[in-house]
Amino acid sequence: MKEIHIGLLGCGTVGTGVAKILIENKDLICSRVGAALKLKYIADIDTEKDRGIRFGEGVLISDAEKVLNDPDIDIIVEMIGGEGIAKQFILKAISNGKHVVSANKALIASQGNALFKAASERNVDIGFEASVGGCMPIIKTLRESLVGNRITSMTGILNGTCNYILSKITDEGMSFEAALAEAQAKGFAEANPALDVGGFDTAHKLAILNALAYGMEVNLKDIYIEGISGITPTDIALAGQFGYRIKLLAIGKDRENAIEARVHPTMIPFDNLLSNVNANLNAVMVSGDAVGNILLYGYGAGMMPTASAVVGDIVDIARNILFGTSGRIPLFSYQPESIRNIPVMPMDEIFTHYYIRFSAADRPGVLSKIAGILGNYSISIESVHQKGRKIGGFVPIVMLTHRAKEADVKKALSEISVLDIVGNKPALIRIEDEKNEDE
Ligand code: HSE
Repeated sequence: MKEIHIGLLGCGTVGTGVAKILIENKDLICSRVGAALKLKYIADIDTEKDRGIRFGEGVLISDAEKVLNDPDIDIIVEMIGGEGIAKQFILKAISNGKHVVSANKALIASQGNALFKAASERNVDIGFEASVGGCMPIIKTLRESLVGNRITSMTGILNGTCNYILSKITDEGMSFEAALAEAQAKGFAEANPALDVGGFDTAHKLAILNALAYGMEVNLKDIYIEGISGITPTDIALAGQFGYRIKLLAIGKDRENAIEARVHPTMIPFDNLLSNVNANLNAVMVSGDAVGNILLYGYGAGMMPTASAVVGDIVDIARNILFGTSGRIPLFSYQPESIRNIPVMPMDEIFTHYYIRFSAADRPGVLSKIAGILGNYSISIESVHQKGRKIGGFVPIVMLTHRAKEADVKKALSEISVLDIVGNKPALIRIEDEKNEDE
């Protein structure tokens, strides 16, 4: 029986899950691949910790270089994460002619263009399914299943931590801090949770998906990013009264010669399927010209769901090795010479619906003053609501707008904010509501 040798770098949560699957499902995988996937080495700085798995003698070592330089190793599985040593190890693996599997979204989003170029030049493959959406096969779906489609839009919940926090506040009235602490305790938050709540982790994933869907270079720097820390229980409760839930969405849309690429808290109607994706689950809705809409849904983080995606990549590469091939599927789905530098549309240019909550003086003429400024910027009001109690002479006024241009909304709000009839800075949350798209 042919053997494919694997070297695992990093035996933390996901690395341990990968080892567990490769060891415990060894025979099952072998019966599907037609070869034995042998975990020859696992390198980790902690070789003492009990991970609940029996590794063979000499498998768990502390020397990553030994793994990278072993001529028997066919596939390096990088499970270290981050943009430091992980990058050096991946480059070394590539230069040693080894295929790579990684879940490193931050690294691929920031340096994927260079890493993938190096891999193509060396004729090795990089599997990165686990970098976006954990177990959801979104990368395989874009690179293989939907390859005949022109992708028109992708809308996703791609960060389990943010989705957990928003779900807990919405459904259980939990505080932001308590929900974040639970997400950390359950192990899906990043070591630095600012990456989650600030929207950066979601943006890393969107940058990768945009490259795969639209044939553009990975472009992280131009994505508009707004996290969830400004979302208040008041806005969550009011959203519910209007038939919306607030989700941190990653939105990538084809706008002919530009791509809309934005990450921000978004109100979506209760009947939008994404509205019912709660707790630490992820989902992504992809629209293609032939397929219509499809939805992928599953755990975006956690030991075993993420390890499942990693092992899927290992098996794809192992099958290619058995057939003596590599590079069969372009890493970013498009042939390198077809990848274009498609611009990301400036945020100011996008059109969407808005929820705006003002704190306004409770006296005659106030509403008409605010509405007048909005009108001057061609912002059409869909409905106005006075909600909640008077605080310090101010009442909360909520306005829902028809489709408006972001730049106009910003200008109008900065004019309104300085009026003495307005209290705190207005709260603004964008609304994605397909039913109103054509207005
Ligand atoms: N911190 C990430 C999340 C882990 O919460 O989704 C998976 O990428």
